[in-house]
Amino acid sequence: MEVNSSNFEYVSKLVKEHSSIVLESGKEYLVNSRLYELAKDSGFKGLNDFIADIRNKPFNSIHKKIIELMTTNETSFFRDFYPFETLKNDIIPEMLERKKSDKTIRIWSAACSTGQEPYSIAMILRDAIPDVDSWRIVINATDLSTTILEYAKRGVYKQVEVNRGLPVAYILKYFEQIGTEWKLKDEIRKMVVFEEINLNKPFPWWYTFDVIFMRNVLIYFEIETKKLIFEKLKQCLAPESYLFLGNAETTINLDAGFEPVTLGKSVCYRLKKI
Ligand SMILES: C[S@@+](CC[C@H](N)C(=O)[O-])C[C@H]1O[C@@H](n2cnc3c(N)ncnc32)[C@H](O)[C@@H]1O
Repeated sequence: MEVNSSNFEYVSKLVKEHSSIVLESGKEYLVNSRLYELAKDSGFKGLNDFIADIRNKPFNSIHKKIIELMTTNETSFFRDFYPFETLKNDIIPEMLERKKSDKTIRIWSAACSTGQEPYSIAMILRDAIPDVDSWRIVINATDLSTTILEYAKRGVYKQVEVNRGLPVAYILKYFEQIGTEWKLKDEIRKMVVFEEINLNKPFPWWYTFDVIFMRNVLIYFEIETKKLIFEKLKQCLAPESYLFLGNAETTINLDAGFEPVTLGKSVCYRLKKI
């Protein structure tokens, strides 16, 4: 049975309130397909009975699970390729020179999904920095979803995930095969620190980042939410730092504090100098 309009409205409101993700009408099919199994596993015959039941309960782990199931977690290693190429060819050489005295690089992969993005960044850094172990490198990788983060932390990927975007040279260098799966080596896993962070809450950082990847998440938010996030982002970007957004995302017309810069074959955003 398909979700009725009142229950769809309830789910949309729940998801928006806790994640900022907008589920406009027409997206009922997403609720049907993504929540059906959870309703069955929770002992309900139909989706509407399940939602009617949780509507009367205070927020608990089932509500959180619903929100997580309504997120889109599509990702891959080296997704869109060019941002990673720019990181390797343009940004890392510039940072190595500029930061040679404090030898610290901080990168944030915000909305990192199952971890392919932060691990791609880690592989690039390890590959491109000759004396990498003499640098203090921290990649903070965050997402709203507890389940997704647990998967990411393991650093173990299925053949189909490894086949998407990962150069063979990196597979050979940084993965070991375990049965039908591929496990990232500790030298890469230990560079990434995973943490649950909801982008619609205040950011917890007490330091600034040199590079932020916040890709393919702002598309799910309303304009006002994007503006609030850009405002918070400005507080945690160092003056010379770089922000990467997804191909369908931009700061243009939303926040005049950033300027788009073409570097290599990609566009990134930098704080405007006042
Ligand atoms: C499509 S994936 C993008 C993954 C990766 N950045 C990429 O470009 O391949 C979007 C991710 O955003 C996360 N997300 C959605 N709303 C969020 C929020 N309010 N706070 C933090 N993460 C959120 C989802 O859980 C999901 O993993």
